[in-house]
Amino acid sequence: MTGTTLRLMSDQHSHQSFETRAIHAGNTADPLTGAVVPPIYQVSTYKQDGVGGLRGGYEYSRSANPTRTALEENLAALEGGRRGLAFASGLAAEDCLLRTLLVPGDHVVIPNDAYGGTFRLFAKVVQRWGVEFSVADTSDLASVRAAVNDRTKVIWVETPSNPLLGITDIAAVADVARTAGAKLVVDNTFASPYLQQPLALGADVVVHSLTKYMGGHSDVVGGALVTADETLGEELAYHQNAMGAVAGPFDSWIVLRGIKTLAVRMDRHSENAGRVAEMLTQHPKVTQVLYPGLEDHPGHEIAAKQMKAFGGMISFRVQGGEEAAVEVCNRAKLFTLGESLGGVESLIEHPGRMTHASVAGSALEVPADLVRLSVGIENADDLLADLREALG
Ligand SMILES: Cc1ncc(COP(=O)(O)O)c(C=O)c1O
Repeated sequence: MTGTTLRLMSDQHSHQSFETRAIHAGNTADPLTGAVVPPIYQVSTYKQDGVGGLRGGYEYSRSANPTRTALEENLAALEGGRRGLAFASGLAAEDCLLRTLLVPGDHVVIPNDAYGGTFRLFAKVVQRWGVEFSVADTSDLASVRAAVNDRTKVIWVETPSNPLLGITDIAAVADVARTAGAKLVVDNTFASPYLQQPLALGADVVVHSLTKYMGGHSDVVGGALVTADETLGEELAYHQNAMGAVAGPFDSWIVLRGIKTLAVRMDRHSENAGRVAEMLTQHPKVTQVLYPGLEDHPGHEIAAKQMKAFGGMISFRVQGGEEAAVEVCNRAKLFTLGESLGGVESLIEHPGRMTHASVAGSALEVPADLVRLSVGIENADDLLADLREALG
């Protein structure tokens, strides 16, 4: 069986429930030894039976590697796509996607709240090749429509967004994209495919930082693209090989292992975050809590419609401005002060000085009194006690 054939096999799993696909899609027993878990094929090249006689379709590990193929098939099955592709990081995946979809003169609509590195890629890299972008509030359809022009080729959405937890109606923006003849790209990193299925809602491509909930243990950096369009999938695979920022065999293996517990982890992340958000809303030092699970969140109804639960990410604003927010971050103990998110351990950070420092002075600048939490799967009472202590 060739690498290409393996990657298009997600139909085989389409009747199975998510939890079953997470464990079985791509995870076929090793044909040589029967090993239940796909081995780490730590190899660059493959012996050929005569010139061009490839065993199993593998030729060189940038083009395809069996461990990466297992992950790519799993990713396609989880997002309900036809093609999954794994990269060295989330930004490597985004870079490959943008250089596949865009040429000079094209225009892109990007959200006014997004991961700072995604904005930097548009503003400092992609724009230099002559691709223009407009910033829109993607939670507001009128704002998206106003930003679209006759050169728009991509509408980019992050929902829930990083770090303000804004919610965009994926199906509604998919309609706008279709009418404009543009592709809708959804960064599904915060939700994961367990909580949200953008392709089923009309998105053309799903982007992931596998570094986050998919890996789930803060021990790997990776990225992914998934599409249901086989032609686009072929083009992306061509560029993945041509550009070369692929996920290595060990990184692919460790993400594949993390994904097996994605469903149970996401349930617990969401449950714990719900309790933390409730506590924060009652706290006298907290001026605003941003969590789509709260009924007064402006995107609550849409989130309830398109997500299975509300996830593990919360941001909140504190009395006393930037210094007070930094103090809370410094005082937390069980919540580890650090960038990134989506691991089993809880993290706390100050977006203005840390993850989103690169958007200072732009339309994406974040409030200085903002604190972001990645709520882990520890005991919720311990997490609440730590935050109460940190808030003073
Ligand atoms: C929502 C989102 N998308 C993309 C990325 C980029 O992923 P990576 O850090 O794996 O390159 C991140 C990283 O923080 C992110 O939070």
